[in-house]
Parts: sequence; C-alpha cells; structure tokens
Amino acid sequence: MGRKALYTKIYNQLRYQILSGELAIGSPLPPERKLAMQLGVSRNTIVRAYAELEAEGIIASRMGSGRYVEALTPAPAPARIDWHYHTLGTLAPAPSHMAELLGVTDKYPDIINFAHGDGGKHTLESSGFPDYVKSTAEQLHSYYFTSVQGLPELREHLVSWMDMEQISSPEQVVITSGSQEGLYLIASLLARPGDLVLTEMPTYFGSLQLFQSLGMQVVPVPMDAEGLRVDVLERILSHCRPRFLYTVPTYHNPTGWTMSAIRRKQLLALSEKYGLPIVEDDAYRHLHLDKEPPPALKALDHSGHVVYLNTFSKLLFPGLRIGWVAANRKLAQLLTRMKELSITTNTLGQLALAAYLRNGALRPHLENARLQYSEQAAIMESHLDRFSPLGIRYERPKGGFYFWVSLPEEINPRKLMARCLERGVSFTCGDMFLLREAEQPYIRLCFTHERSEKIDRGMKIIAEVLQQGKELQL
Ligand SMILES: Cc1ncc(COP(=O)(O)O)c(C=O)c1O
Repeated sequence: MGRKALYTKIYNQLRYQILSGELAIGSPLPPERKLAMQLGVSRNTIVRAYAELEAEGIIASRMGSGRYVEALTPAPAPARIDWHYHTLGTLAPAPSHMAELLGVTDKYPDIINFAHGDGGKHTLESSGFPDYVKSTAEQLHSYYFTSVQGLPELREHLVSWMDMEQISSPEQVVITSGSQEGLYLIASLLARPGDLVLTEMPTYFGSLQLFQSLGMQVVPVPMDAEGLRVDVLERILSHCRPRFLYTVPTYHNPTGWTMSAIRRKQLLALSEKYGLPIVEDDAYRHLHLDKEPPPALKALDHSGHVVYLNTFSKLLFPGLRIGWVAANRKLAQLLTRMKELSITTNTLGQLALAAYLRNGALRPHLENARLQYSEQAAIMESHLDRFSPLGIRYERPKGGFYFWVSLPEEINPRKLMARCLERGVSFTCGDMFLLREAEQPYIRLCFTHERSEKIDRGMKIIAEVLQQGKELQL
C-alpha cells in the first residue's frame, strides 16, 4: 500500500471513531510519535492524517498539551427540493379521476364492477387475442424497437380497417400508448397553458383531467340527444378563438348519445368557417348494439381539419395500451416528433395486434362481443326499468358501454356509491364528467365489464340501497 493510501486509511478510521462517538468530545488523541509506533507507520503519516482532521475542525491542538476531539458545529440543514413548487409550471391542479377509478379495484378486487369502461375478462378470453400475445412472445427473438410512428404493418392494417378515403397511407397514422397518449400529444401540439379548448359537456373524464392538468381553459358546449349543440358552438366561436374542439360524436362517453348525420355536416361547416381543428375520439364506433352509426367526422372531412383518435382499449382490453391517431401527413409528422420524446409504443403488443388483424380475427371477435354486450345491456335495462318508480331516468344506449342514469335530486351520488361499495358494487359518479357539479345528479353504469349473472346481482344490490336511501335521505 502506498504512503498516501496509508495516511488516508488512518484518517478515515479516526474520523469514523470520532463521528460515531467512540472517541468522546474532549478526549485527548495520542501524540504523533506514540501513535506512529503503535500502528507501525512513519510519523509523517500520522502528521498528515491529523492535519486533515484539523482542517475539517474535527480535532484541534491546544498549545503545549496535544490534540483533542472537538465538539462539532451542527451541519446546515440540507437544501430540500419542494417538488410541488418545482412542478407547478407544467401540472395545473385537476381532480385525479383516473387514479380514483383504478384505485377502487385495487382496494376491492372482488367488487361487482360497473365503474370501469372495458369489455371484461370474459370477452377478452373469447377474443382469442391472448393466444396471439403468447405466440408472438415465443417468437420474439431480438426485436429492438419498432419505428417511432409505430409498426408499419399495423399501420397498414389500420388504414384498411378505418376504410376512409381521407386516410389512404400508413404515413398518416401514428401508434400511441392508448388514445389517451394520442390526445395528450395532440393537445400539447395544438394548445398552450391558458388557451381555450372546447369540449362537449358532459365529457370523458380523461380528456377533462388532461386539459385541466395542462393548464388549458375548458369551454363547455352543451349536448342533446343529437349530439353537440352546434348553435351554441357557433355563438361561442363568434366571440372567441379556441385552439380546438374535442368531441366523442359516436356513442359518447358518458351519455351514449350519437351525433346525427346532419349535425356532423353542420359541425364540419363551422370548422371550415372558423378554422377550428376538431379532435374526434371514435373509441366506441365498432361497438354498436343495433345498426351501424353514421360515418365518422373524419370520413366527411374535406379540408383536413379533423384529427382522428381511436383505441384497442374498448375493442380488446385497456391494459394493452395501444391506440392510434390518423391525420393529415403534416400533423402526423409533428405528432411523430412529439411521440419520439417517449421513444415508441410497446413492440410486443403491436406485433401481436398486427398478427391478429392479418388473420382477420378482429371482425368475428367484435360480432361475438356485440352479441354478448346486447344481452348484458338488456339485463341491466330490465333492472333500471324497475327503478323508475324511484325517480330514476335513463335512455337505452344504441352502442358503447354505458347507461347514463339520472337520479332524483335528493339523492347524493357519492353517498349512494359509498353505500354500494360497502355492499360490493361500484359505479362511476356523474360529477367526474362535468366541470362542476350538475343540478341533476347522475351515475354511469358500465354494462360490458361484468357477465350477466353479476350484472343481475349487482343491480339488485343497487336497488336495495336506493330503496333504503329513500328512507335514509342519501
Ligand atoms: C371516449 C374515450 N376516449 C378514450 C378513452 C381511453 O382510451 P385509452 O385506454 O386508449 O387511453 C376512453 C376510456 O374510457 C374513452 O371513453
């Protein structure tokens, strides 16, 4: 060992003894010569070790009586980062609806779940998709990443799946981690904090939470059974310039309403007149319970104003986290640049999906799923019918996943939910979909997640709680 290493070792040992309290404050240290002899080292080695400790203020010399261990001055408190303060610029306050919703099933895994918006385990199992994931994983040898924009084969399948003359090339498609990421990318490209963005009211809570978290000002546009009120929209556009409109025109979440063909044309005309980008979220298009819905806004878009969003979350399962954006080439390029910041979407899921689409497995799966969902919706509806003497109102959805149910004014949906949770049933409260609490309380019930037998059981429990609620003034 070199001399330098030796003095460092002695310095470290002494320092440790002092800091750990083995050598008490005020205790004398051995003279240099004595310690050098004890340790079998040169005196110079001890001189250097002591000099370092003195420089640090851990020991001190007293004239004529050697060295002593010093009392340490308290170290200044370490500077702490206030993460709330540091992140204020990018994350504005917004309710954590997504975490709240997902948290319920973490807490109550066996609950009868009318809260989540998905097709349920039973539909996924009958889709055959898990087998595609398995065989894709077995063949996965040395895949690096797919392209940032997404697996080219998957994008090609999506172009033919969408079947719109406006989207004729895979270059116009960007694969994203669910359509929520697609919306995040679009919103970040089109608007800055403080900008106005338009959305139907009520609206999908994930979009509301996103816009509010990005510091955008949400301007609500009311709806009726024909969709977004274009007359109100025109009034808004005549006096302000929002950055874009977000809409779910087909089997809207949560109301289930579908924008009529005439409204679609009127909306596109307004978009052309005012240069308003439209972000169309088409998550439920293929989940009709009877006849097919009117064409997507994107399919009627002659000026490239519509940015189209869709997802496999509703067609297969949300944990897959694969959605897509379809837009004009220029915007698709910009979205790809933005997407590059998180590299790309997961390769395994994209490869499995490409194989699923290549084999034509999606169409028969959806036909089967729609039959199951129709049966499940009918069971939920038969219970809701029996609720009507309690003042409960709803409309039969023509597609999508939900009943949007209005409660009598005296019933507080949050209290109702707390009572139902105690009895093992969950659903979603209407306020999640609104900017502020509406006068008329609503709840949203998903009919696709649970099998018929559990729907039956869960709805009976809600009926019992509602009955008691009348007496208990929920
Ligand atoms: C209208 C709408 N858009 C998007 C999503 C979320 O989709 P993804 O899981 O692909 O992010 C949902 C989920 O409930 C939805 O209802």
